[in-house]
Amino acid sequence: MSGYKIKAFTTTDKVGEFKETTYATSPLKEDEVYIKMLAVGLCHTDILYASQPDLILGHEPVGEIIDLGSNVTGHQKGDIVGFSYLRECCLNCRECNSGNDIMCHKRVMFPEGNNNGFAHGVICKDKFVYKIPKELKPEEAAPLMCAGLTVFTALYQAKLPPTAHIAVVGIGGLGHLALQFARAMGYHVTAISHTESKKEECLKFGAHTFMASKDFTPDYIEKAPKFDLILDTVSVDLEWETYFDLLDRNGAFYLIGLPEGPVEIKNIIGFLQSQKTFKASMLSGRYTVDLMLEFAARHGIKPAIVKYPLTTEGLSKAVKDSESNSIRYRAVLFPEN
Ligand SMILES: NC(=O)c1ccc[n+]([C@@H]2O[C@H](COP(=O)([O-])OP(=O)(O)OC[C@H]3O[C@@H](n4cnc5c(N)ncnc54)[C@H](OP(=O)(O)O)[C@@H]3O)[C@@H](O)[C@H]2O)c1
Ligand SMILES: [Zn+2]
Ligand SMILES: [Zn+2]
Repeated sequence: MSGYKIKAFTTTDKVGEFKETTYATSPLKEDEVYIKMLAVGLCHTDILYASQPDLILGHEPVGEIIDLGSNVTGHQKGDIVGFSYLRECCLNCRECNSGNDIMCHKRVMFPEGNNNGFAHGVICKDKFVYKIPKELKPEEAAPLMCAGLTVFTALYQAKLPPTAHIAVVGIGGLGHLALQFARAMGYHVTAISHTESKKEECLKFGAHTFMASKDFTPDYIEKAPKFDLILDTVSVDLEWETYFDLLDRNGAFYLIGLPEGPVEIKNIIGFLQSQKTFKASMLSGRYTVDLMLEFAARHGIKPAIVKYPLTTEGLSKAVKDSESNSIRYRAVLFPEN
């Protein structure tokens, strides 16, 4: 069997400028599948790598399996599958065996390997692609592969009782899915956005209440309800102390978005005496992707998407719109024939 010629879109040294290219792959290995791209989401993390030239980005892809290696048993031609950040791991260490494969010391994660989703096709290890439930269209499932998985993982790992009060800060690609997942899990959900403009949509996504951080004053924060868990999905620095003050006793702040940092805890005594937690939280691997997809399908959790063509122009426009915070709520790109 010979390899494939894949049309792809690579980064340049300018954020938001892409080049179309075609590359030839090696023949399919026995444990690999070849996927024809159907839809791919643009995550803010893609933009963080977008000034490193010659990368094929895109880690929210969904496509159709066109070809299978000789040893692939878990998938069939025609299956609609997605893949995520974790592209490979050893499958045989303590982390891998305990379902915590994203922490494998031999993990291969996006954008390593340079064989990602902003392309018309992709080759993947068969154990790292996930069957998309029939309830979800490819473009609905694509943003779940990173944005959905990341917020589902945080909520799932927090192991809170259904009585917990959760706040989601930053209602973008991750945030609007976090509201839906948290609501479906039975929590009391608050959306915190920097202006009022997303209020109505946040309530539709499942938030019980809404707060605009532009209103935050010391008095407002003191009187505000307090949270067991705050998920921060904002891509810039926050006034950290304000959010730590919004935590209840034993409350946890999960850093999911990537600020420029550093993060400082100023009121150490208050933080300690209320036993607060500050935790970094990343997406996860094979075990959790399947749980997340099943849960999303069962509860009708779907992203609100804005469509773009998967072309150099489409990518540039999607990056520009994402950087100006004008996408409601996830850009999804579609290959053109
Ligand atoms: N930990 C992980 O595993 C993981 C996985 C995926 C992504 N990420 C990171 O998570 C973050 C969110 O990603 P995303 O794709 O959801 O991004 P996004 O769609 O751009 O959403 C980010 C949200 O942050 C808020 N925001 C953005 N710029 C702001 C500014 N200048 N001031 C105040 N608020 C601002 C906005 O929410 P409001 O308008 O509601 O305020 C915006 O919708 C990024 O930093 C990304 O790199 C982490
Ligand atoms: Zn991502
Ligand atoms: Zn391992």
